[in-house]
Amino acid sequence: MNNLLKVDVSVRKLHHQVEGYRSITRQLGEEFSRLWMNKNNACNVVNRDLALEPPSFITEAWLAAAFTEEQKRTTEQTTELSESNTYFQEVQQADLIVITSPMYNYGMPAALKAWFDQIMRVNKTFSFDLSRGDYPIEPILSGKIVVLLSSCGEFGFSEGEERAHLNYLTGHIQLLSKYLGATDFYEVRSEYQEFADDRYEASLMKAKKDMATVVDKLSSV
Ligand SMILES: Cc1cc2nc3c(=O)[nH]c(=O)nc-3n(C[C@H](O)[C@H](O)[C@H](O)COP(=O)(O)O)c2cc1C
Repeated sequence: MNNLLKVDVSVRKLHHQVEGYRSITRQLGEEFSRLWMNKNNACNVVNRDLALEPPSFITEAWLAAAFTEEQKRTTEQTTELSESNTYFQEVQQADLIVITSPMYNYGMPAALKAWFDQIMRVNKTFSFDLSRGDYPIEPILSGKIVVLLSSCGEFGFSEGEERAHLNYLTGHIQLLSKYLGATDFYEVRSEYQEFADDRYEASLMKAKKDMATVVDKLSSV
C-alpha cells in the first residue's frame, strides 16, 4: 500500500500548550503515520484536515449537478462539484485511508459527515440499478483499507459492553467506508478521556499498542 490518505476532524489541536487539551485522535493519527512510514517509507501521504477546512454542506444545486451526466453539466454545475471532486480524487488515489475521529454526541463530527456527503456520488462512489431489486445501490471503488482511530470521553462502547447501543460512530463510519472502497475495516479506540484517570491512561496505552499491531499486519499485506 503506497498511498495513504489521513483524514483528521477533531476541533482540538495536536500541539496545545496544555497537555490535557491536546487532541487524542490527532495524536493517534500522527503516531500511526510515524509507525507506517517506518515500515513503508516509499508511501505517499495526503493529509486532509476537515476541522481546518470544513467541507461545505451539500445543497439542492449540488444534488442537481451530481445527478446530471458529466457531459451535460453547465459550467456552474461543474464548479459546484469541484470540492466533491477533490475529495473523491484523494479517496480514489488512496489504498489506505486513516480516519481519525472523536465521538461527538454519540456519532461522528458534522464535518466528517459533510465530507462523506460530498464523496457519496452516483456513478463515482456508488452505482444505482433498480434491476438489483430492493438493494439497488452498490459501491464502485474497491480494494482499499480503512482504519478508524477514535476517541470518546465515556467508555464501554464496544460490542457487548454497557454503552454499545449508544455507539453511532463506529457502525456508521464502517458502513460508509464500503463506499470509499473499503474491503477491510479496522478500528482502534481510546476511551475514558473525560475521567482523566488510570482507566484513561490504560485505554490510551492499549490503543497505541493495538495500533502498532494493525500497522504490522497491514505492512505485511
Ligand atoms: C462536542 C463534543 C461532543 C462530545 N460527545 C461525546 C459523546 O457523545 N460521548 C462521549 O463518550 N464523548 C463525547 N465527547 C468527548 C470526546 O469524544 C473526547 O473528548 C475525545 O477525546 C475527543 O477527541 P479529540 O481528543 O481527538 O479531540 C464529546 C466532546 C465534544 C467536544
